[in-house]
Amino acid sequence: MTKKIVTLAGDGIGPEIMAAGLEVLEAVAQKIDFAYETQAKAFGGAGIDASGHPLPAATLEAAKSADAILLAAIGSPQYDKAPVRPEQGLLSIRKELNLFANIRPVKIFDALKHLSPLKPERIDGVDFVVVRELTGGIYFGEHTLNEDSAHDSNDYSSDEIRRILRKAFDIARGRSKKVTSIDKQNVLATSKLWRKLADEVARDYPDVTLEHQLVDSAAMIMITNPARFDVVVTENLFGDILSDESSVLPGTLGVMPSASHSESGPSLYEPIHGSAPDIAGQGIANPISMILSVAMMLRDSFGQMAGAEMIEKAVDKTLMKGILTHDLGGSADTKQMTRSIIANL
Ligand code: NAD
Ligand code: IPM
Ligand code: MN
Repeated sequence: MTKKIVTLAGDGIGPEIMAAGLEVLEAVAQKIDFAYETQAKAFGGAGIDASGHPLPAATLEAAKSADAILLAAIGSPQYDKAPVRPEQGLLSIRKELNLFANIRPVKIFDALKHLSPLKPERIDGVDFVVVRELTGGIYFGEHTLNEDSAHDSNDYSSDEIRRILRKAFDIARGRSKKVTSIDKQNVLATSKLWRKLADEVARDYPDVTLEHQLVDSAAMIMITNPARFDVVVTENLFGDILSDESSVLPGTLGVMPSASHSESGPSLYEPIHGSAPDIAGQGIANPISMILSVAMMLRDSFGQMAGAEMIEKAVDKTLMKGILTHDLGGSADTKQMTRSIIANL
């Protein structure tokens, strides 16, 4: 049956990398006989321009009835002081589709090891997944900005915490069976609850080892001994910060994909980075984060393991040949990188 994929190109480098991702998808689909159709929808700043809202009703409706959603990036300095921001669209679609589990894999292609700012011995064996809670916490609390004070509330229910912890333990079962739960339980009430529930959930997974780590020292370990991690699970805000930090290991945000899942219903796939306004419109963005997000979609939403692997191997091969975009110190542009990956499929 033909799968319906809703595409949200968004802003900045978004349209440039979305085009790259879709070219690769088409090339792979022909090889594996995958039938799909895409439906492009306005989103983010492009949504505000088109209809005054970063998540237009027609976009949300299409996303809800899709088999999967591909999102490139949103955000632009032009909305920095605007009453409605593109980012609001991103938070809304996550909430509306109940995409509570954001999976951000951190793997370093062999070809990128020598480009990492870290010493080779520090990144040896690095292969972990950040499981970020995505529909709760401080992102969705009350935000009040007054003249001389401001307030943000961080709320989590037990159910919200339990379901993301279970997700992490389930993922760990298919990997090296180790979960690192990251919190700030020495200060935050939400973290105290988080830690207690992590211990409770762990009892249902006797085959998986649980360790706790405070977020500040976890940030340090991510650089000094990142190979220690297998599955890292944490709340929304910590996961946002730590996952960007993890991009330092391969050397660039430009190779970092993600998947966001609900209990049932369509999943959403997007790079972890933003719209990169500093390089937008120049045709030089690294499309690999988007292309690897397409691979995650093929695997997680459509069970197309061969297609996903084909993409990942082609990316590896391309990097091995020294084809590198400017964020990796090379001179290939977005189109050259994309064509090279397609040639290596
Ligand atoms: P960013 O991730 O857009 O960029 C950070 C740095 O990484 C920049 O120097 C950028 O050039 C570089 N970079 C990012 N992706 C790259 C790629 N594919 N190839 C090469 N270089 C790349 O973060 P920012 O500058 O802090 O934020 C810019 C805008 O993006 C803001 O409006 C922010 O809210 C938004 N944002 C959106 C998303 C999303 O759509 N999911 C995620 C993060 C930030
Ligand atoms: C991300 C982004 C978003 C977040 C922003 C743009 C709201 O940084 O997807 O990581 O903080 O979740
Ligand atoms: Mn982020």
